[in-house]
Amino acid sequence: MILRCRLAFLVSIIAANLAWAAHSFENTAIVRTAELGGSLVHVTTTYAIKALEPKASIYTVVLSPDEQEKTSWLEIRQKGRQAPLQVEAHELDAVNNVYLYNVQLPKALSTNETTNLIVETIQTHATYPWPEQAAQNDDQTLKYETDLYVLSPYKTAVQRSKIRALVPRILSYTTPEDIEFTTEIPVTKSGATVTYGPYHNIPPSSNSEFVQKHQKHVTVHYGHDFPCAQITKLKRAAEISHWGANLNINDDIVLHNGGPALKGHFSRLGYQSQTFYNRPAPTILNWFTLHLPAGIRNVYYYDLIGNVSTSRLRLAPSAPKTLTANPNQYSIMEVRPRYPVLGGWNYTFTLGWDAPLADSGSFDSKTGKYIVGVPVMTVLPDAVVEDAEVKIILPEGATDIEFFPPFPAKNQTISTHITYLDTVGRPALTFHYERLTDKHSGIIYVTYKVPFLAHLRKPLAVATAFIGLFVLAMGWRRVDTRLDTRQKL
Ligand SMILES: *[C@@H]1O[C@H](CO)[C@@H](O)[C@H](O)[C@H]1NC(C)=O
Ligand SMILES: *[C@@H]1O[C@H](CO)[C@@H](O)[C@H](O)[C@H]1NC(C)=O
Ligand SMILES: *[C@@H]1O[C@H](CO)[C@@H](O)[C@H](O)[C@H]1NC(C)=O
Ligand SMILES: *[C@@H]1O[C@H](CO)[C@@H](O)[C@H](O)[C@H]1NC(C)=O
Repeated sequence: MILRCRLAFLVSIIAANLAWAAHSFENTAIVRTAELGGSLVHVTTTYAIKALEPKASIYTVVLSPDEQEKTSWLEIRQKGRQAPLQVEAHELDAVNNVYLYNVQLPKALSTNETTNLIVETIQTHATYPWPEQAAQNDDQTLKYETDLYVLSPYKTAVQRSKIRALVPRILSYTTPEDIEFTTEIPVTKSGATVTYGPYHNIPPSSNSEFVQKHQKHVTVHYGHDFPCAQITKLKRAAEISHWGANLNINDDIVLHNGGPALKGHFSRLGYQSQTFYNRPAPTILNWFTLHLPAGIRNVYYYDLIGNVSTSRLRLAPSAPKTLTANPNQYSIMEVRPRYPVLGGWNYTFTLGWDAPLADSGSFDSKTGKYIVGVPVMTVLPDAVVEDAEVKIILPEGATDIEFFPPFPAKNQTISTHITYLDTVGRPALTFHYERLTDKHSGIIYVTYKVPFLAHLRKPLAVATAFIGLFVLAMGWRRVDTRLDTRQKL
């Protein structure tokens, strides 16, 4: 009984909260643009908002459960400003079955004051190949599904959603019926863009009543001329060595072509003639480019069979930098898999390089700590990284370790990594991430101290090993002589 009372009380509080929220703003316009890709969809929603009461400072953005599941990255800015706004992500609002994101406006609005908020998200797994299978010479076509209305706790004067493909080949799209908020045609197509709306005078929509009564599902079927690259698994190991003043990065990558699965057999002859006439099939992933850091050396690229020699690398010179990386200077690696990766196929390879430690690390004499920056990953444009593990291996004996990832990891662990000639082992930090996109290109900063004696540990270990070898060699010589004498006998 008490429980039920409490529950009722709680529900009434939440309801009151939303009701209260609905009075603080109205949307004078919502414009959403979804840019369709192969593996990623960039969705930009602009909310033109007007305050309905004085000192309105917290605006709520809403995602439906389906949008929440697909959204891998979200950032909210005020139009005309670069800095993202502070967003407080809320749990599911169970009463209305929506996810709430509260945005703190930099300056509270007074009554009737307006501003524009830009909500940028990246969706992964929002598209899928359709048909699911295609022959080697077939077109590649995909489907994108989404909700018709952008949900909001506030009433909206006008709303419009554009869905834009890269090439003007829209095969079909849903025409919604019985739209209450327009008297005109509910959807139009022009070139590569399908536009839903404008729809007028939409009441607060982030409640189950509106969703049940009005929300609709729409599907766009479109042509896409680029392979759908996905990285199923990325395992990055970054090893910091003060002794060699080196940062080694080693990536073990499982690449997957997420396009339609190959129907029938792969014809190498057909593939060769397609390549010869410079008309590569969009369903075949046969090369991609990566931007690697400037100043790297000893670049290696091998797969299960061995060294892959068909790749090309254009190196940019080393640029020791302050901790703000210069993104304009990078080496370009054109990676060619050993075989063309067809729809549904996988390709496993390893890519790595050495870089001067000075390019990504420095010593802060004030705190007595080293600081090293390791990129979370090397971005492959328009590809999702399903599962990433980034391991940073610190020098032996490092202490006072602190780390600053650019965005929170799923989980992180500290372990000890022991390699050849190590005495106590090296501390290693491991970060796990899921569904990374090309927006997740940040740098993990790690700071640590290395006591003076720890610096000596490696040379000592090496010296001991050398002396050991020397003794061994002397022993061998004796053995050799004895054998020799025996042979002579
Ligand atoms: C806000 O605008 C409405 C309609 O334009 C007007 O009636 C109202 O007086 C305005 N309020 C303030 C505080 O300016
Ligand atoms: C691997 O191939 C590259 C590119 O042809 C070549 O420069 C490199 O020497 C090769 N490495 C080995 C270990 O064979
Ligand atoms: C590719 O890898 C996935 C798992 O990562 C597996 O389910 C699939 O069967 C593989 N495809 C091929 C053609 O081996
Ligand atoms: C961390 O998360 C990954 C998946 O993201 C999982 O495979 C792994 O077991 C987790 N590790 C720990 C220690 O929880």
